[in-house]
Amino acid sequence: MVENKKHVILTGDRPTGQLHIGHYVGSLENRVKLQNSGNYDTYVMIADTQALTDNARDPEKIRHSLIQVALDYLAVGIDPNKSTILVQSQIPALSELTMDYLNLVTVSRLNRNPTVKAEIKQKKFGESVPAGFFIYPVSQAADITAFKADTVPVGEDQEPMLEQTREIVRTFNNVYDQDILVEPQGYFPPKGEGRIPGLDGNAKMSKSLGNAIYLADDEDTIQKKVMSMYTDPTHIHVEDPGHVEGNTVFTYLDIFAPDKDQVAELKAQYEHGGLGDVKIKRYLNDVLQAKLAPIRERREQYAKDEAAVYDILKRGSEKANVVANQTLQEVRDAIGINYFN
Ligand code: TRP
Repeated sequence: MVENKKHVILTGDRPTGQLHIGHYVGSLENRVKLQNSGNYDTYVMIADTQALTDNARDPEKIRHSLIQVALDYLAVGIDPNKSTILVQSQIPALSELTMDYLNLVTVSRLNRNPTVKAEIKQKKFGESVPAGFFIYPVSQAADITAFKADTVPVGEDQEPMLEQTREIVRTFNNVYDQDILVEPQGYFPPKGEGRIPGLDGNAKMSKSLGNAIYLADDEDTIQKKVMSMYTDPTHIHVEDPGHVEGNTVFTYLDIFAPDKDQVAELKAQYEHGGLGDVKIKRYLNDVLQAKLAPIRERREQYAKDEAAVYDILKRGSEKANVVANQTLQEVRDAIGINYFN
């Protein structure tokens, strides 16, 4: 029988706060598109275990953010009838797989992960890097392989985790002489489109930098944030010629404005001189309000019944446990730690 096997997606986010429009263009939008294509079994995971690797002393933050991220998922259109939404900590097989994989990875290899290196610097751990944080790429390999995912829609910064996962898969299949685990590929936004700068022009939009527009922001907040945005510091008088390159308002318009001809026209006007910052910000505000209003409204609907949202997570986690336990059994059989079967 020729089996037409569906592709499998596994992806996720750490629940350390609400999701923002950077997450939206970086990967949420892709996930919804892939989910709706009908070509994938889709698993979307709230990575609370990973979030705890550098927040062990603040579990309340993770607990609170879990429901926020779930609401953000549902708001952008991740549909529990089409995708399985699961909670990492509720899938014990993921921890067991992590332990098995850790033996196939060297400390020096983990030390070379550029994303982890950058995070260690950014988080100012100094000599006190939590061991769980240091090995989280291995736990991420467990997440991906437990579901035999071949497609992982994430931002570009996650490529080192995928490379690490592929290495673990190859090593595992090789050492135990089995063809159990699947090598995943990343699924990234088109070059240049997946990264959105912060409101202040900083290359990264992030909670810690305080330069984000959140999916849950209300109309007033969005407007205030847009009006405060970084533009072109040399564009002092309306009639001065302005710069479009590196001008955050135009970067956002390139990403979000549906009418690209209109954006091209505004750019030409701005460069020529005679177009004020307030005008382009008003236009961007209209564009963002139109994009975010339906997301916010759906979020508010779901937020009225948190118990129902927890129930979605519970059911998703139950379904995920069945799949992950099956993979764990195969892994144990391969290693030969199945003494009592
Ligand atoms: N590392 C991801 C992030 O920081 C979250 C994550 C955990 C993840 N496990 C995953 C993403 C597996 C994709 C696949 O957002």
